[in-house]
Parts: sequence; C-alpha cells; structure tokens
Amino acid sequence: AEKGLKDYYKSYFPIGVAVSTRALKNPAEVALILQQFNSLTPENDMKMGPIHPDSTRYNWGPADAIVDFAQAHQLKVRGHNLCWHEQTPRWIFKNPDGSQVSKARLLKRLHDHIDAVVKRYKGKIYAWDVVNEAISDNPQEFLRNSDWYKICGEDFIAEAFRYAHAADPTAVLFYNDYNTERPEKMERIYQLLKKLKDAKVPIDGVGLQGHWSLVEPTEQELRTTIERFGSLGLKVQVTELDVSVYPWEKDRRAKRPDESDAYTAEMQTKQTAQYKLFFKVFRDEAKYMTGITFWNISDHYSWLDTYPVAGRKNHPLLFDEQLKPKAAYYEVVKF
Ligand code: XIL
Repeated sequence: AEKGLKDYYKSYFPIGVAVSTRALKNPAEVALILQQFNSLTPENDMKMGPIHPDSTRYNWGPADAIVDFAQAHQLKVRGHNLCWHEQTPRWIFKNPDGSQVSKARLLKRLHDHIDAVVKRYKGKIYAWDVVNEAISDNPQEFLRNSDWYKICGEDFIAEAFRYAHAADPTAVLFYNDYNTERPEKMERIYQLLKKLKDAKVPIDGVGLQGHWSLVEPTEQELRTTIERFGSLGLKVQVTELDVSVYPWEKDRRAKRPDESDAYTAEMQTKQTAQYKLFFKVFRDEAKYMTGITFWNISDHYSWLDTYPVAGRKNHPLLFDEQLKPKAAYYEVVKF
C-alpha cells in the first residue's frame, strides 16, 4: 500500500483524525483513514451531551462503533472529552425540582459519569481529554465562568483528573484548550497546569487544539508554548489541527458581504507554508510531542464550514474535497 502520514511519522508520533460514525460508513473515507492515520478521536460521540443525554441513560452506540472500528484496524483512540461547558446536558446542573444542584451533588454526578465512560473503554482508549476549555477568553478572568465553575469553583478540574485516573490508571490524561499559543492565554493555562502539577493531580499532558489560521500562531509562539508546557514535565499533543483560510476573529459572527467562497491561490500558498512550518516545529520538538490529530478528514467536510459562521466553505485540511492530497500534504511528508 502507498505510504501515508502515519508511516512518514512512525518514529515521531501517531497521526490521528476526528471521525463520526457517518464517515466510518463511507468506503472512500474509510480507505483514506486506513491509509493515512493510526489514531482516531470521536468528533462528538463521547461528549457528555451525546453519550449521557439523561441522568438514567447512556447512549453508547456511536462511541462503541468508533472504538470497535479502531480495535478492528489496530488504531489508537483518544477519548474526547469528559468535562466541558458545551455539548453538556442541562440535567446535570439541575435538581429534580429544577433548582440548581449543590457542589457535592454535581461532583458526585461528574464522578459517576467519568467512572462509567472511562471504565467502559478501559484498555481501548489510551488518552483522554479530561477537561476541555476551562480557561476564560477574558484576560481579566482566570477560569471561564461556566456552570461547572459557578457551582464548584475551580475544584472540578482537579477532581475530574482524579476520577479519570482512578477509573483507568494507565490512561494518559490531558487538559485541552484553544488559542493556547496566544501569549496572554498561554500564561494563564501555564498557571493552571503548574497548580495541578504542584498539587500532584494526575495530569500527563496538554492538548493544543490547533485551530489555526493563515497568520497564527507564529513559529516563535508555537515553539515557546510547546517548550513551556513541556518544562512542566507534561506531554504535548496537537489534538484538533486544522488551518482555516479565514481569519479567526473572536467577535466575528457574520459572513462579510465582500467575502466569496473562492479558495484563492494566495490562500493555498499561505496554508501550505503554515502546514510545512507547523510540522517542522513538531518534529523539532519531538521530545515533548506525543501525537498530532486533525479535526476532520478532508475538505469534503469540516466543522469550519459552519463555524463560527454558516454559509461559507472552508478548506482547512490536507486532503481536498475529492479526498486527494493537497500541496500542503506533500510538504508535510517531505523531510
Ligand atoms: C466541534 C465539532 O467538530 C462539531 O461537529 C460540533 O458541532 C461542535 O464541536 N473544540 C473542541 C471540539 O474541543 O470538541 C469541537 O468540536 C471544536 C472546538
């Protein structure tokens, strides 16, 4: 068989991809996955809302299907995720009478959820994103003012790691976040991670989501981030890599009238250069890096087609809409 990303990077780290059960039923996508990748992350199916929709019911089917597929093809699985402020069922924050739960009850529910999910896939999922996106985007705040934080204060973070570690002591446990290379946010994430390490919380690594663009992060920002987190004794993975052809502006929620869907030659050239640079940095920093995962398979479908704005096509991945390798692919495997 033709070589794929996983083969070129065999001596570096696994190369993963986020998948849905729909992709695993599409023969063309399955062929590409098996040629290119040796690790899977369920794009949505293990998040608390999808997998635990009611207090008395788990929806295991889709998550099981992804884990079974991985086992059948000897792929690793990264679990994503155990505690987040989005795609989280409302019942978890409520008493039966509709009032807000106490901290003790919420932590008990978090424990029971993590215990059930992690134990079900024990030995089949090698790494978990335990807490996702807990740092605020507002530099005036430290942690995000989520329901988890409002009810529990910061304790939910350390507890989530302890629950996950107790459920599967061999799983590698990650804190995962975005915009991790922006210096100010990086600094607050560093403070959180340092606090957890100092308190002997069982955390093994940090996930840089890697939702990047044609202009960020810079090489220096990326290297500094990896080395600074690495200096805490943490492993670093890029967990959700894509390179948007549009600028990331936090407050931007509408398609600009002057914006067309054209994937211009200029965009393609810049994107190729970004991918080439990022993978060079990953190889240079290989002593800290233990995995790179792409967020979706090809430009045929990306979550960025509808986020943060619907109605414009994005082209953020290494394979085009026909699943063919793009120029960026050839740069990533040339070293
Ligand atoms: C996204 C999925 O790709 C979408 O299908 C879903 O509608 C929303 O979530 N950060 C994360 C991922 O940690 O879980 C998100 O995935 C993308 C941003």
